Amino acid sequence: MGKINVVEHPLLKNSLTIIRSKETAINEFRRHTAIVSQIIITEATKQIPLREKEIETPLNQMLGHELKTPIVFVPVLRAGISMLFPAINFISPSAVGFIGLERDEQTAIAHEYYQKFPKNLDAGIVIVLDPMLATGGSISDTISALKRKGANTIVVACIVSAPEGLEVLQKRHPDVNIFTAAIDSHLNESKYIVPGLGDYGDRYFGTQ
Ligand code: PRP
Ligand code: URA
Repeated sequence: MGKINVVEHPLLKNSLTIIRSKETAINEFRRHTAIVSQIIITEATKQIPLREKEIETPLNQMLGHELKTPIVFVPVLRAGISMLFPAINFISPSAVGFIGLERDEQTAIAHEYYQKFPKNLDAGIVIVLDPMLATGGSISDTISALKRKGANTIVVACIVSAPEGLEVLQKRHPDVNIFTAAIDSHLNESKYIVPGLGDYGDRYFGTQ
């Protein structure tokens, strides 16, 4: 069974509180999203394998390390884009795949409108980036699409999760580890996370 990991760090708690507040303006919302994302990604990549690499410093030769396995980030459009640049700034030799999913406002069921994944998904670790895990539909469908294209080691990095969505994800994809900054109380009747932070995409992209 994939594990649900709630990432703990004082800087994460501080920045998460800032992005949750309805008083936070767009610039600060974006800046603290980047901090939150980097801390979650640090934790989500803690177990990735390394191999030794011989290098020369200005003073001597030494054995250092490099990543052994390719990393592929897959942001779920739109909101996942907000976590992508913090991720690739961190792990530069990483590939990026995209999937576009949008929830219907009435039914909250996501439909796919775009997909472009790199080849050889089976060779590395795929990290799905989506800040909000509400019903779990968008992330579950993303994982299914990745598995159909050959991915077999998949990790989810999200910011705020609802218990309902985590349950769905664990049922549909019990092999996938999930890293989240918070598990909130519940979904409201419109399938928004409570207390959550509102409509993430609208707040990040300024489209309220
Ligand atoms: C939001 C959010 C997630 C999805 C989560 O995206 O960014 O992708 O909803 O909901 P779920 O777990 O119930 O599927 P939205 O569909 O609003 O699109 P956007 O990213 O373009 O704003
Ligand atoms: N998408 C969001 O942006 N917020 C929620 O609370 C749920 C889905």
